[in-house]
Amino acid sequence: MTQQLLVYVPPHPLIKHWLAVARDVATPPVLFRAAITELGRWLTYEAARDWLPTLETTVESPLAPCPATLIDPQVPVAVVPILRAGLGLLEGAQTLLPLAKIYHLGLVRNEETLEPSCYLNKLPEKFDSETRVLITDPMLATGGSIMAAMAELTKRGVEPALTRIVCVVAAPPALQKLSADYPGLTVYSATIDGVVNDKGYIVPGLGDAGDRIFGT
Ligand code: PRP
Ligand code: URA
Repeated sequence: MTQQLLVYVPPHPLIKHWLAVARDVATPPVLFRAAITELGRWLTYEAARDWLPTLETTVESPLAPCPATLIDPQVPVAVVPILRAGLGLLEGAQTLLPLAKIYHLGLVRNEETLEPSCYLNKLPEKFDSETRVLITDPMLATGGSIMAAMAELTKRGVEPALTRIVCVVAAPPALQKLSADYPGLTVYSATIDGVVNDKGYIVPGLGDAGDRIFGT
């Protein structure tokens, strides 16, 4: 069977609600940040469903021993926030994945060429091949940034099939590039918007996510 990129848009009322708040141009930075945090939480919850490693064991209830499923602490879990805007999704993700290691990756697009450049790379030289990796970046637009992130990760041993991308708005150019190079990868997004304009913004999107999170 040939693998293909999976893109999930969870039909959850909390995700729809916080997306609407984030899209609204009248939402002030403090509320925008809260909305992105909530989206990070609920999208990570959805992404963890068939991704977090578990082990089967037995626990003693007050009345009797019983079979139990626990998170497997031996399998490494990593979150890679793409700075700056990916930081907005991190807090919600981290509350659900308290044992995850956080590896920051700073990428910024050139406003003219839309090409990303890397200004911070805290990735280890090599990941354990079993590592579950969750990438956070609210916007997948032309796809330049997420493709640069995936290239850095896979050359360090990350397995695309064990990787989840959590984003808020995904656009077709980014999804097409991911699909061509990383079949087996899975994306969780609050929505898919159809248009990237000639300035590289997703329409309707939610504007410049980093600027709105940090108010700068
Ligand atoms: C934004 C966003 C993504 C990138 C998406 O970051 O957070 O990383 O643009 O665009 P692309 O798919 O066309 O590459 P930006 O470069 O604006 O930096 P910031 O997060 O610091 O605002
Ligand atoms: N980055 C953003 O922050 N917003 C977009 O619409 C596209 C890229």
